[in-house]
Amino acid sequence: MMNEREKLDLITQISLDINEVKDIDLLLERILTSVRKFFNADAGSIYLRDKDNLRFSYSQNFSQQQKLPPGRKLIYNTFSIPINNMSIAGYVAKNRKTVNIPDVYSINDSVPYTFDSQFDIISNYRTSSMLAVPIINQRNDVLGVMQVINAQGDDGEILPFSPEDEPLIMHFANSAGLAIERAQMTRNIILRMISMAELRDPKETAAHVNRVGAFSVEIYEEWARDKMIPDEEVERQKDVLRMAAMLHDVGKVAISDLILKKPARLTLDEFEIMKSHTYLGARLFKNIQSDFDEVALQVALNHHEKWDGTGYPGHMDPETEEPLPGFEGANGTLKPKKGEEIPVFGRVVAVADVYDALCSRRSYKEPWDEDRTLEEIRQSTGKHFDPDMVRAFFSCLDVLKSISKRYPDEDEPQEKAD
Ligand code: C2E
Ligand code: SIN
Ligand code: SIN
Ligand code: FE
Ligand code: FE
Repeated sequence: MMNEREKLDLITQISLDINEVKDIDLLLERILTSVRKFFNADAGSIYLRDKDNLRFSYSQNFSQQQKLPPGRKLIYNTFSIPINNMSIAGYVAKNRKTVNIPDVYSINDSVPYTFDSQFDIISNYRTSSMLAVPIINQRNDVLGVMQVINAQGDDGEILPFSPEDEPLIMHFANSAGLAIERAQMTRNIILRMISMAELRDPKETAAHVNRVGAFSVEIYEEWARDKMIPDEEVERQKDVLRMAAMLHDVGKVAISDLILKKPARLTLDEFEIMKSHTYLGARLFKNIQSDFDEVALQVALNHHEKWDGTGYPGHMDPETEEPLPGFEGANGTLKPKKGEEIPVFGRVVAVADVYDALCSRRSYKEPWDEDRTLEEIRQSTGKHFDPDMVRAFFSCLDVLKSISKRYPDEDEPQEKAD
């Protein structure tokens, strides 16, 4: 157990930490990890409000996690519940009240909500104590609900949360509220940038952009673990990569709709024009002022390079479209980039982008089934893709599939809430 001094330090640290994270998914992960640690809680979840519903957006469960092989992630389903007094989270959101329950299986008859034991049945878990707080912003809107579950004593025994925990978790929920609002704004600005510019083909939605961002982070994390990259470095890079990968095709704003939305294969000339979306995108980030600019430039410029040197645009200065000094090919041509000459984030997003493009409907193609998609990626190892990146891709495939369910195409039937 922590002493008071350590607790105070941790309270300050948590607020500082979460204010550094800019991407919403990674932010929820960071908040829950810190808050669980603070209360020595085995599990926890965050729901985000979506109009009149709460969407189960992020979840952790330490004892379930322990049963998995090292490095594997717990897969959970997203679902929505209405904001009303029937459920614990619904009650907390509706009444903006903190709820501290010693045992969810013996809830007092005087309250309207009940615990839905389906949660435990599905996840094969026994929830006992629960502390749930509303996440509220400065304008007093409810943004969501944070729950921590099963406080543990020094010997791992499950305890109720203490009444002194209540003001503390409210403090964390307030810090979380500010950070969540900012991160949602960042994500929405990126999505709006993409849609306003009519970058999107009618069949290419925000869901695609979100998926490529989320896939990239998972593949990178897996690759980085194999390469023994320090955790702090990986955490920092994940945050910028998530947003940069969402913008990989931002250069398509400069491509005419006639080409972008052509419901057929492109001619060679059209494809030459299409290729410019890489360096045109890179130019948007040329005044490098932050890690984000740097990574976004790397991704936009390099996501169509291929491991065997057959990709585009090659060793080009995106500004002048001239070869980089020392990389001039014969009579003014560009030398291709190959292997580790291609920046890491270019190699990551290449796999994420193609995986998503193959599984999805495009103006010019039908979605491929899973077997065909995976076979194509396997066949492209060492040709299109870095073999280490493909290894990372297959190691986290189950997580990638759960991301696809989380961000379904709008025209596909939604998964039923369970
Ligand atoms: P995108 O639709 O996001 O596709 C990204 C990458 O996924 C493609 O890069 C390619 O490597 C892979 N990919 C997509 N569809 C297929 C496919 O049916 N078979 C295989 N083997 N790979 C596929 P690429 O080829 O450099 O294309 C870049 C972008 O150019 C595409 O982005 C898309 O916007 C556009 N594009 C490419 N080919 C066509 C086409 O025939 N018609 C139209 N209208 N657009 C195309
Ligand atoms: C999520 O990351 O699942 C929620 C995104 C949002 O509501 O902005
Ligand atoms: C878009 O929405 O236009 C970009 C999707 C992608 O190609 O990954
Ligand atoms: Fe692209
Ligand atoms: Fe793409």
